[in-house]
Amino acid sequence: MTKIKTVGILTSGGDSPGMNAAIRAVTRSGIYNGFKIKGIYRGYDGLINGEVKEFTTEDVSGIITHGGTILKTARSKDFMTPEGRQKAYETCLKEEIDALVVIGGNGSLTGALAFGMQFDFPVIGLPGTIDNDLYGTDATIGYDTTMNTIMECVDRIRDTANSHERIFFVEVMGRDAGFLAQNSAIACGAEAAIVPEETTDVDQLAAFMGRGIRKSKKSCIVIVSESPKCGALYYADRVKKEFPEFDVRVSILGHLQRGGCPSARDRILASCTGVGAIEAIMQGQRNVMVGVRNNDVVYVPLSECIRTDKRFDKRLITVLDELSI
Ligand code: F6P
Repeated sequence: MTKIKTVGILTSGGDSPGMNAAIRAVTRSGIYNGFKIKGIYRGYDGLINGEVKEFTTEDVSGIITHGGTILKTARSKDFMTPEGRQKAYETCLKEEIDALVVIGGNGSLTGALAFGMQFDFPVIGLPGTIDNDLYGTDATIGYDTTMNTIMECVDRIRDTANSHERIFFVEVMGRDAGFLAQNSAIACGAEAAIVPEETTDVDQLAAFMGRGIRKSKKSCIVIVSESPKCGALYYADRVKKEFPEFDVRVSILGHLQRGGCPSARDRILASCTGVGAIEAIMQGQRNVMVGVRNNDVVYVPLSECIRTDKRFDKRLITVLDELSI
């Protein structure tokens, strides 16, 4: 096994608050432990195109407070092909990069695993996504900040919903996962959440309306996970048709959920897993994601963490149902 001297770092997929804190942690911990650190711009596209710059500790100064990613990010189509990955590998050879740290979500870590396998190359993943849909870690970098952003937005929506005595359908991100919707609904005191995990077997709107809305409630907030067919607009239209006595509005929070200054929790998660990534490299680990479970830093095989069926605790559904009467 060749001795690792230079570590490349990139961010990929949707940005998430705390990615900068992770870049800082990997860079500082890497330099502290005697590695050369090279920043790769624009995700895998930048690796393919050779957009690489050596990082000093100063390059990551003052970034822990900033949302987004100083390395920029992209969803690379080319990297999905063996030919694209071959070009990326050639950049690694040219730049003498002996190991890669990839910060991203499901798609990005799937790409990381494919690269690691194709070239027998040491790759370490960090869970960077607001969706919290990666297996093997209690939380992903960005999830907590986004939860807080949603909570702040919904608190404001509640004021106007109360004043007009309306039903609001608020759509949040999450791709195919309901973590953001279910937990933000609990945090906001929402009356219901509609999540992808439940759509197959139950008509969640019918179930919720069937329970009845207490007459003394001044407003009603339903948090809906984004979905191409069954998003907030779909449910609002149904209520307009099926329950015309209610005054209904929709609010789609969109990309404002992904921006902003990372929370303390996300900065700490990013810092601990970033240091964990360098430790993993020193231990000779490869093809693992660094996560946190029960406050311990853990290493999860990439093949495990990209499973697409991470489920939230179904007790959260009970908590919301019981507290929203
Ligand atoms: O994976 C993060 C995420 O924000 C999802 O919640 C959302 O579905 C998607 O990215 C949006 O991607 P884009 O910014 O490319 O529209």
